[in-house]
Amino acid sequence: MTAPLGFTDFHSHLFPGVDDGAQTPEDSAAALAAFRKDGTRQLITTPHFMGSLTRNRAMLADRLDQLEAGWARLRAVVARDAERHGSPMRVERGVEVMLDVPDPDLSDARLRLAGTNFALVEYPSLRLPPMNAEFAVIALCEQGWTPVVAHPERYRNLAEYETLARFKGAGAYLQINAGSLFGDHGKTAATHAMNIITLGLADYVASDYHARGLPRLRDFHHAVVEAGYPEQAELLGVTNPARLLEGLPPLPVPPFVVADAEPAT
Ligand SMILES: [Fe+2]
Repeated sequence: MTAPLGFTDFHSHLFPGVDDGAQTPEDSAAALAAFRKDGTRQLITTPHFMGSLTRNRAMLADRLDQLEAGWARLRAVVARDAERHGSPMRVERGVEVMLDVPDPDLSDARLRLAGTNFALVEYPSLRLPPMNAEFAVIALCEQGWTPVVAHPERYRNLAEYETLARFKGAGAYLQINAGSLFGDHGKTAATHAMNIITLGLADYVASDYHARGLPRLRDFHHAVVEAGYPEQAELLGVTNPARLLEGLPPLPVPPFVVADAEPAT
């Protein structure tokens, strides 16, 4: 790892009591400790948010009120963590937008990643739409936002990688979950994660940490370095997430070079 701040993580569920991640401030405090231990000192945390709420003013206001309360609880935890360690962690907010409608209105900066133009999105029920899956990506790009598709390796109906190439062609970036590589989401997701990285389609790795287990960013970095790809390890886990936090697009991540069976003539 060469960056002074180590890893930057932009996908986790640390707001206490607003989704299936941290339930209490104590859970959030333990999660921050886990990130510190794993080498992450700056992060954007991203509670679940249903995109369809942006079509109903009252329901949107309710959810944003819940998130404000959760954010206030988390800020207090972050402040206590900084006091205890004598050095603050940088903790920003965003959401993970479920695309239960293909064109949610993300004009409220709280619905994007640390107020940048980047938005973390996922498709419902871990299934890609059977037709024109990239429609949502196009719709968000037309609004001026840059979608980052979370954990594409986890989609149960992902059969080939052409769909992911189309997402990228339409202006999206792809984020792999660190734990997927180690089978945390099953064997199929592990195979997809490896293939997506090998093909050079992944732009980022993130933890998707739910305040249980380990963030695994260090494990992921170590595994990719050990496989012989330190440049990709650095781009996926360090450089590109740090660029996102500053509102900058990722640098291209080269595909892995698989040795030819036949020497070139
Ligand atoms: Fe998530």
